[in-house]
Amino acid sequence: MQKKWNTQLIHSDVKIPEGFRSLNTPVYRASTVLFPNAVAVSDEWDQYEFGYTYGLYGTPTVLELAARICELERGYRTLITPGGQSAISLVNLALLKAGDHILVPHSIYGPNRLFAGRMLKHFGVDVTFYDPNLGSRIDALFQPTTRLIWTESPGSVTMEVQDLPAICKAAHGAGAIVVLDNTWSAGVLLDAFAHGVDITMQALTKYVGGHSDLLLGSVTALEKKVFDRLGAAQQLLGFAASPDDASLALRGLKTMAVRLKTIEASALELARWLASRPEIELVLHPALESCPGHEFWKRDFSGSAGVFSIVFRRDFSKEKVLGFVDALELFEIGYSWAGVTSLAVAYDLQRTKTRPDYGHRIVRLNIGLEDLEDLRADLLRALENMR
Ligand SMILES: Cc1ncc(COP(=O)(O)O)c(C=O)c1O
Repeated sequence: MQKKWNTQLIHSDVKIPEGFRSLNTPVYRASTVLFPNAVAVSDEWDQYEFGYTYGLYGTPTVLELAARICELERGYRTLITPGGQSAISLVNLALLKAGDHILVPHSIYGPNRLFAGRMLKHFGVDVTFYDPNLGSRIDALFQPTTRLIWTESPGSVTMEVQDLPAICKAAHGAGAIVVLDNTWSAGVLLDAFAHGVDITMQALTKYVGGHSDLLLGSVTALEKKVFDRLGAAQQLLGFAASPDDASLALRGLKTMAVRLKTIEASALELARWLASRPEIELVLHPALESCPGHEFWKRDFSGSAGVFSIVFRRDFSKEKVLGFVDALELFEIGYSWAGVTSLAVAYDLQRTKTRPDYGHRIVRLNIGLEDLEDLRADLLRALENMR
């Protein structure tokens, strides 16, 4: 038909050459997805089963990332969420109802603990926090209504490695499912499903993104019936992930192996060296015997990441510890981790029954891709500055 120019702006007849092939998955941005005819219209979220229906459920860029994460973690299928925290809330909101009981380790990522303690309790879910070192003794905490056990291995900041097979065995015996925050392993250093876990989630924000410039999360299920419940909830919650961020994460995956290798070697070297320093009481790196649950890391993991914590001697005041962090020049101060820049953050842990009493003396380090000897020199100068 004949079109005026302002219609042509929207409905053009131009043709460009076909057959272009790039090494990279294109960034498909879309809310509207076109259907071939009126009868084909549907609002099904499961685009694997029904074909593409709506941008909220993922454009090909987002689905490519989901499939890649699923391939690495060896699950049934993966959902991509706008960040790691929304992956956590998706799992909780999809699988729990008022009257259910869940178990959450004291060592879990702070906002995960807060989601359970505030939001889930508000919705009538009963929450028990547990010592991450319990292993099979976790069964003493089960109630007839226990539906879900959160795990994170190693835990955030205090780095306890959990006995996942023992926890999973106990949970399955009681009819509960186990969810693992698998962010530290980047989904590749621990084969979570082979160790009994039912669902994994990751903050792709960390090693998959790898450059501190995006926020994304993933939830991977081992079984179709669990995936279906998660997908249906994602539709209702409206947790759409950005295709632009998914594209950056796909790029991040391509270099993740070399980043992890260098980061692992530098972190191990620095952790061992820090353990020999007189200022430091304890190094909490899963590959060192001094880390609670080191034996489980040795048994279950195929490598280590670049995040670990150091605990200063008891005689160092809070001011001295904060002074150490401020004296660092290459280590920047900031949340999130797993990027190429080394980071240091001091924590002041509340005394809870099963949280170790490290008080104000604990500092978490993220090792990046700077030269190892420059990082060592930076740490040495800051340690000497504490005297
Ligand atoms: C272990 C862990 N899980 C989940 C998250 C949440 O990820 P996001 O910041 O993408 O929401 C973080 C972020 O710091 C984390 O460290």
